[in-house]
Amino acid sequence: MDKLVIQGGRVLNGELRISGAKNAALPILAATLLPDEPVTIRNVPHLHDVTTMIELLGCMGVELTVDEKLSIEVNANSITEFAAPYELVKTMRASILVLGPMLARFGKAHVSFPGGCAIGSRPVDLHLRGLEAMGATIHVEGGYINASVEGRLKGARILMEIVTVGGTENILMAATLADGQTIIENAAREPEVVDLAQFLIAMGAKITGHGTDTIIIDGVERLHSCTYDVMPDRIEAGTYLVAAAATRGKIKLRDACPQYLEAVLQKLQEAGAIITSGADWIELDMEGRRPVAVSLKTSPYPGFPTDMQAQFTAMNAIADGTSLVTETIFENRLIQTHEMNRMGANISIEGNTAIIVGQEHIQGAPVMASDLRASASLVIAGLVAQGETHIHRIYHIDRGYETIEEKLLLLGADIRRLPD
Ligand code: EPZ
Repeated sequence: MDKLVIQGGRVLNGELRISGAKNAALPILAATLLPDEPVTIRNVPHLHDVTTMIELLGCMGVELTVDEKLSIEVNANSITEFAAPYELVKTMRASILVLGPMLARFGKAHVSFPGGCAIGSRPVDLHLRGLEAMGATIHVEGGYINASVEGRLKGARILMEIVTVGGTENILMAATLADGQTIIENAAREPEVVDLAQFLIAMGAKITGHGTDTIIIDGVERLHSCTYDVMPDRIEAGTYLVAAAATRGKIKLRDACPQYLEAVLQKLQEAGAIITSGADWIELDMEGRRPVAVSLKTSPYPGFPTDMQAQFTAMNAIADGTSLVTETIFENRLIQTHEMNRMGANISIEGNTAIIVGQEHIQGAPVMASDLRASASLVIAGLVAQGETHIHRIYHIDRGYETIEEKLLLLGADIRRLPD
């Protein structure tokens, strides 16, 4: 196990390139099970979750060729196992995303039932109900989801009871090879869902309405090969923007799409940041000023993203003023506030709202990471704290941030990865 050791107080300044999006790469890699020809995926981020997904496909017998730039050629014709084992699913819930493609292409799937995680119970009932509506027979036994269908899945009209990114993605992928038309209503509108849809279309799928709350898919007999570049990671981009804002710095991000971060950029401007941007770059300048506290409430896209909530909590901890941060997506995603209070922050929790009284300074301390974005928020807290912060269990960070310490060192941070 490693830890990150950060000497706080440095102002972040500089330029960096944003990696491919984890939350687009994972469903896209799952979707490589669908075509009957090899496909190539490029701009894949070098992350632990991606390695786990590659391992999962590999253990199913899928042929994968990975080059030095992490472009991945996948040929699913060699598949021999139609199972996603517990050992892999327990480390990455997104393994559930192979369920829809396996059912659609091979008519069967045996996938370990994903448990909850630090941020919540994270059920998959809406994934299963949607696939059953398309004709799948599904029963859960011994901690595994056993799914099968005679012949092809059938197109269906599916109204999602709540907006679910993974649920939308599983049904979207399954519908591409179904017999007939599928309409997904109350669909997730996240850019990563749109990126998956564009990958499916590049393989010959017939999809319209992606990016809106109603997606229409006309099933086809087969999908063919293509080469596809994963979109840039808007959450990684947002995380570095908040880190620069919290340290009163200036940063330019390349391969960052401002149109996918509107709610986040608005909040950063409210906090006093000067934001300029172009088609594929974003620049933030605090002009040396302390951020102003900003209140926010998470909601599905295009609302404020839950994956950026913890990072703003860290910035608000040292901002000028008091703020309210309300988490509406996951039931336990304010856990990072307890560790921040150990650093001298003044955060109280009422229900799903954190009340944050901004402090002039917080102090470095040993802290424990608990999930991916909470870990990122502790890094930001360490960057602004006085003194040294040791962040333990940083395997959480490695799941979603490619070479985080190298990128922060480039920006002037004093940060080291040491054995824990
Ligand atoms: C995706 O998770 C992301 N992960 C999450 O990012 C992100 O926080 C989340 O979407 C919301 O934007 C990936 O894309 C790999 P949901 P997902 O299904 O699909 C409830 C990160 O930090 N729900 O949209 O699992 C669920 O409990 C990760 O990168 C059901 O009740 O999220 C939650 O309250 C964390 N039944 C809400 O919906 C279901 O069948 C939204 O979850 C499915 C979900």
